[in-house]
Amino acid sequence: MARAAKAKTLPDVADLTKAQAKTEWKRLALELEEHDRLYYQEDAPKISDAEYDALRARFNAIEARFPEFVTPESPSQKVGAAPLGRFRKVRHALPMLSLDNAFAEEDVRDFVGRIARFLKLADDRIDFSAEPKIDGLSMSLRYEGGELVTAATRGDGAEGEDVTANIRTLEDVPQKLKGRNIPDICEVRGEVYMTKHAFLALNERQKAAGDTVFANPRNSAAGSLRQKDPSITASRPLGFFAYAWGEMSAMPEQTQTGMIHWFERCGFKTNPLTKLCHSVDQLLAFHHKIEEQRAELDYDIDGVVYKVDRIDWQERLGFVSRTPRWAIAHKFPAERAMTVLKDIEIQVGRTGSFTPVGKLEPVGVGGVIVQNVTLHNEDYVKGVGNKGESLREGRDIRIGDTVVIQRAGDVIPQVVDVIIDKRPKDARPFQFPKKCPCPLHTDVVREETATGEEGARARCTGEFACPYQKIEHLKLFCSRRAFDIDGLGEKQIEFFFEQGWVKEPADIFTLSARNAKIKLEEIEGYGETSVRNLFNAIEARRRIALERFIYALGMRHVGETTALALARGYGSWEAFHEACLKVARDDEEAIADMDALDQIGDTVIHSIAAYFKESHNRGIVERLTKEVTILDAERPKSNSAVAGKTVVFTGTLERMTRDEARAKAERLGAKVSGSVSKKTDYVVAGPGAGSKLAEAKKHGVAVLTEEEWLKLVGE
Ligand code: IVH
Repeated sequence: MARAAKAKTLPDVADLTKAQAKTEWKRLALELEEHDRLYYQEDAPKISDAEYDALRARFNAIEARFPEFVTPESPSQKVGAAPLGRFRKVRHALPMLSLDNAFAEEDVRDFVGRIARFLKLADDRIDFSAEPKIDGLSMSLRYEGGELVTAATRGDGAEGEDVTANIRTLEDVPQKLKGRNIPDICEVRGEVYMTKHAFLALNERQKAAGDTVFANPRNSAAGSLRQKDPSITASRPLGFFAYAWGEMSAMPEQTQTGMIHWFERCGFKTNPLTKLCHSVDQLLAFHHKIEEQRAELDYDIDGVVYKVDRIDWQERLGFVSRTPRWAIAHKFPAERAMTVLKDIEIQVGRTGSFTPVGKLEPVGVGGVIVQNVTLHNEDYVKGVGNKGESLREGRDIRIGDTVVIQRAGDVIPQVVDVIIDKRPKDARPFQFPKKCPCPLHTDVVREETATGEEGARARCTGEFACPYQKIEHLKLFCSRRAFDIDGLGEKQIEFFFEQGWVKEPADIFTLSARNAKIKLEEIEGYGETSVRNLFNAIEARRRIALERFIYALGMRHVGETTALALARGYGSWEAFHEACLKVARDDEEAIADMDALDQIGDTVIHSIAAYFKESHNRGIVERLTKEVTILDAERPKSNSAVAGKTVVFTGTLERMTRDEARAKAERLGAKVSGSVSKKTDYVVAGPGAGSKLAEAKKHGVAVLTEEEWLKLVGE
């Protein structure tokens, strides 16, 4: 009833002016987001399904009339893309990883060079499969006994969503694998996509029906796949290209291109442009040719992918954190567009650094609507680069300017030029603030570079007292890749912080005990259920993986990959914590040990030292560790003879390169160190070994030849 009454008082969408429509669109977008959050995350909807549908229908009708309003973040783009709850979670038998990117020719030459060095081969001996990089959604299809049993999205790479019922409606996905001798378990991976034609036609239909219009074919494919009702997916033309695999109980082929042909024999479509290349020049020629064809292809691609063809070599090359060493995505150059810069705002980050953010008149670039653009720092706005060089021939960026922006893949859009001819008379040069916009209004300082010169970055000097920095750290702490606490999103953190309930991470874990006083259930927007859900979500995170914990501390330069490297290197919180405290006291042995870890260098070590030198930070860590249990890092293969052992390689190795030896040892759960101490378990010495061999003898450490080592690890 409420819906009918409401509908009567609103003017027809067809009668709205553009300005009125925009205002209503914004209001509805916020309302829908809030209702989605209440429904999916809090399990506590405030309105009936019918009322919700009415809001959504009106919103869709506005977007259908003014498609220029649609942004990738718009609630319409998330039709059924509820992040939580709707689809069952599926753990991938083998993680679904992503690819490293190359943009320039040089990056591709480096990639091939790295592989050749790793494998100790001449680079013209390595064949590559070259494939278009489809801009869709990756999917893992699990077949058991030849029958499709599960289809899962990539999700966070470890866990995806079960979309089997919807995937069964795709013509390109066989329910049963064709052919003989099909391995018992086959996980076929590839990309679900929507053709450009189908996307345009679907948007026309949606528009006519006053229904969701999508920003690009990728969003459209995602929206179509995440439908509760598989018959809706069935009505949407989705395609699938197979190009990779996960768990296989037996390998039917020995090469990437062989596997592609095998997928075809099983009944899959594979990309017809896939080509076997024998040299870097052939890879680059492939990139060039595909780029020329790009506009004519009926599906979106954003680059090409090169993969080492021999699977045994792929296995030897292995992975660096989340990306394979044996493959790379060679992206196409960024796309550009022109628009007006309406304003510049200052964003204060977790470490107090200032980033000027340009607010744009929304503009489409490469299928995405861009509204914000990073302007990096004060010098960049003035037209001065990192090394003092002039940018954009010295043209500064002013509010009111017409600017050229560029977007490459998932990289944050950039301003690459300013059109001076279009500069309005009243365009103002940007005054970089002298005081932090935070309530402390501290003086702003320019950060020093490693060489002691004035750097480009400005920061708030409020440090631990700056509430903006504290809030940003809490946001990172609760975020998906850190503690992943459902129900503690950015808005809630800001609110809890303002109330003084959560001032530092440890407070999150004492919240429930303090609730008798706080009485969260009496706060608007909360109810008994949502409060219970929140406390359950917090309890569920009292046990946390070491790498997540390290990442969640928010130390500068310690992102996810570095945190994982540290967690693997030290194995336990106790060992890592002890090392950090020693590093902060400038203990040379501890510094050398940290330095010896793969992917850890001076910048990270300095940052860790700086963090643990501060008693305030040590206090935060101490109070937090009382509240949580930190799980030891997963050693990749704990049943190997060298798991948990510390090994040092020295001298010349003959059957493998140093990089390969290190990667292999780490894969088997060993820690590879650069210096010998009494804690070293093995020193693997090849010809020419010198001081490290002597050190090993001094400490009585076992010394192995390369052959003995290979035997020990089962080769
Ligand atoms: S191979 C271990 N091949 O790109 C790497 N990926 O950035 C497995 N993609 O998540 C991926 N076309 O969604 C591979 N021919 C292709 C691809 C492709 C598109 C996507 C895929 C993946 C992302 C990695």
